[in-house]
Amino acid sequence: MDPNARAAANRQFFNDRAVGWSERCWGDKLRAGGLEAKLERLFAAAAIPAARRILDVGAGDGFLVPFLLPCLAPDAILTEVDVADQMIAENQKRHPDPRLRFLVADASSLATADRYDAILAFSCFPHFADHAGTIRHLGGLLAPGGRLAVCHLQSSAEMNHFHRGAHPEVSNHELPAAVALARLFTAADLTVAAAVDEPGFYLVLGQRPNS
Ligand SMILES: C[S@@+](CC[C@H](N)C(=O)[O-])C[C@H]1O[C@@H](n2cnc3c(N)ncnc32)[C@H](O)[C@@H]1O
Repeated sequence: MDPNARAAANRQFFNDRAVGWSERCWGDKLRAGGLEAKLERLFAAAAIPAARRILDVGAGDGFLVPFLLPCLAPDAILTEVDVADQMIAENQKRHPDPRLRFLVADASSLATADRYDAILAFSCFPHFADHAGTIRHLGGLLAPGGRLAVCHLQSSAEMNHFHRGAHPEVSNHELPAAVALARLFTAADLTVAAAVDEPGFYLVLGQRPNS
């Protein structure tokens, strides 16, 4: 598919689902329990409590925000980024905290002079068209020592099985095995600190060298 048509269709797909996204996607899983412990594992690995500048890409309507805010210092800034403007509109409505910033942008090209201590790509990476380019771009937005985390609460096999049976718009959106994604981190000059791909949890964590 032509890349512009793919991008437009991807944006439209998520814009159409923006209202009520978190409840539909996460409500039952939250009520089933065990989800908070996995998020704590992610936040500890990404060193969120020590971070002052945090980027949450593919943020949707801000599912992570209520979990992130209690971990953040009063002077921390959390930037919520999504390519779908309706997701960001919902996110902004739901989360009036002054530490939040909102941005409509593609993760592979978002332009900012800021550098981040932590970048989270949570439950969104399969939808990015250019995997290698996005890792390279996001890696370039890290401050020295900053961490980039690609995380899912399923293994790559579980995630890909789910997408294959889902709507045709996303049925070929693939999450690479963690070892394969780790290679893209290395190619982007990030030090791989974790590559976990197990039932119920996926995390590839990269760190930008200090100098
Ligand atoms: C499955 S939803 C997950 C949203 C949120 N992270 C959550 O866990 O509820 C994927 C999100 O990624 C966004 N997205 C897809 N492609 C993107 C891109 N190239 N750049 C930024 N965001 C993108 C979608 O608009 C959507 O909001």
